[in-house]
Amino acid sequence: MKRFSDKKVVVTGAGQGIGFGICKAFAEEGATVALNDIDATLTQQAADAINTAVGEQRVFPYVGDAALPETVQNLIDASGTPDIVVANAGITKYAGFLECTPDTFDRVVNVNLRGTFFLAQAAALKMIASGKPGRIILMSSVVGLRAFPNFSVYSMTKAAVQMLAKSLALELGSYGITVNAISPGATLTERTQREDPQYAENWASVTISGRPGTVDDIVNAVLFLASPQASQITGHNLVVDGGWTLRSPLPAEHPEKPVTSDDATG
Ligand SMILES: NC(=O)c1ccc[n+]([C@@H]2O[C@H](COP(=O)([O-])OP(=O)(O)OC[C@H]3O[C@@H](n4cnc5c(N)ncnc54)[C@H](O)[C@@H]3O)[C@@H](O)[C@H]2O)c1
Repeated sequence: MKRFSDKKVVVTGAGQGIGFGICKAFAEEGATVALNDIDATLTQQAADAINTAVGEQRVFPYVGDAALPETVQNLIDASGTPDIVVANAGITKYAGFLECTPDTFDRVVNVNLRGTFFLAQAAALKMIASGKPGRIILMSSVVGLRAFPNFSVYSMTKAAVQMLAKSLALELGSYGITVNAISPGATLTERTQREDPQYAENWASVTISGRPGTVDDIVNAVLFLASPQASQITGHNLVVDGGWTLRSPLPAEHPEKPVTSDDATG
């Protein structure tokens, strides 16, 4: 018997990186997974790759912008009543506070916060209506705990996600729904390695465990919080960072000065 047989799982922002790893792990553990991404090609490729790997159709692709309440509502409706929902979609716009534009502010807040909020709401309403208990897991970040240069908007949204987990844990607990956040530290993904070819070495040098995180490190935390062993854990923020937040040093080459370039490491 696999650990998540017969469970229905929804994951946003899952065409690559951490979200992809989460979908793959749940599919391997017997779950049926609704995989969302805003990029149509990535969405289809990711679903195909996982279904091929597990040898059957366990993953169903859903293209759409997870910042939009209508997208997340459709995603929840299409997947039936989910048992486990992972609000993983998140973006970083790398901008100094003094240069940050309203467009950058709105986009980061809309994807990281508004989308997360309304995905959790749509999921909770479905779980409550069906009388099923459920798990909601929200992707935060260590920069929701520690200030970081040029990340004011991103950090603010990730701190808010941690408070959202506490608030929802309080309001949804009586329905048998747990709500927790996960805060990854620097994690090796296609994106982070593309943005900084020295990412692994740079973050290994300032992380107490001596290495950056991997997608599997974050996936393991998600599977734990979704498992029966975590049924008494709610409103928690699980930090998965190899001890980085204990001191929070920057890699030596990390830009301290304001920049206005676009996407960067979260
Ligand atoms: N990688 C890290 O070091 C790190 C650290 C801390 C927190 N996080 C958080 O973990 C989550 C996943 O990070 P990642 O590094 O795997 O991301 P990523 O950038 O590698 O992948 C994110 C995926 O989300 C998709 N996406 C972007 N906007 C979307 C939207 N509006 N709707 C639907 N899909 C959208 C992208 O197309 C992409 O496929 C994010 O919430 C991020 O903030 C990551």
